[in-house]
Amino acid sequence: MSAKIIDGKEFAANIRKKVADHVTRLQQDHNLTPGLAVVLVGEDPASSVYVRAKGKATREVGMNSYEHRLDADASQEAVLALIDKLNSDPAVHGILCQLPLPDHIDEPTVTNAIVPEKDVDGFHISNVGLLATGQKAMVPCTPLGCLMMLRDHHGSLSGLNAVVVGRSNIVGKPMAALLLGDSCTVTIAHSRTKNIQDLCRSADILVAAVGRPEMITGDWIAKGATVIDVGINRIPAPEKGEGKTRLVGDVDFASAVEKAGAITPVPGGVGPMTIACLLANTVTACSRANGLAEPEGLTV
Ligand code: GUN
Repeated sequence: MSAKIIDGKEFAANIRKKVADHVTRLQQDHNLTPGLAVVLVGEDPASSVYVRAKGKATREVGMNSYEHRLDADASQEAVLALIDKLNSDPAVHGILCQLPLPDHIDEPTVTNAIVPEKDVDGFHISNVGLLATGQKAMVPCTPLGCLMMLRDHHGSLSGLNAVVVGRSNIVGKPMAALLLGDSCTVTIAHSRTKNIQDLCRSADILVAAVGRPEMITGDWIAKGATVIDVGINRIPAPEKGEGKTRLVGDVDFASAVEKAGAITPVPGGVGPMTIACLLANTVTACSRANGLAEPEGLTV
């Protein structure tokens, strides 16, 4: 039997609708419009595409979007000065500095310069610590989206075996912390893990976040497991014509769909959830900054 396909596009549209409703309430009842500032240093083409998409999605839910583009050779001091200005701007409730940054800029220094209350990426060391200790934090967008989909599919996650493949600061580690917070038994697997296939086969929930195209095949997956594929990899697709490419996940969808109980596709699974959760975090930050009730169903 083929797995249930978890539709991230539809799920993300529901989140954006909830965010838009909350924005309307903040405007009508409190004369407040949430604002998100996005900082891009340099002209990395992929980052430019993401930043444009984030700005568009922000405006579509009725929030203010502020884009700040700095030259690739901008000094670290210039980036920090801009962040300082945004930190003290009352119209800005969320700040995001698009990664990766040019080599001459120290990422942790910049990430930790954003005040934790406006850190809608959840990358500030204070938010990392709050999440790790089970306290109220700004939660990184991609793992937040994954958790929302898992809760929706399973109801309670308590007692389930979760294996997270990948140990990045952006996805793997915060994902593990969130699953632990929901009382899963959590293992993080990575490139040095022994018997990784056996380990994956022990998972009720398998989260793939390694950035290796179609690494996880159906024979790594227990019958009926839930598979969340965070990977977005572009690979050659000669069948579509010379020089053409296609997007695939870290999971080999064709074989996995025959074993899993539920699975997120690529594209159309986790991807759309990331920007939706960024909007959710921004409206949450605005509500918290003004001492107002947090939006329902948009935080953990
Ligand atoms: N670059 C790739 N993913 C992300 C993300 O989630 N946030 C930021 N700021 N940069 C990224």
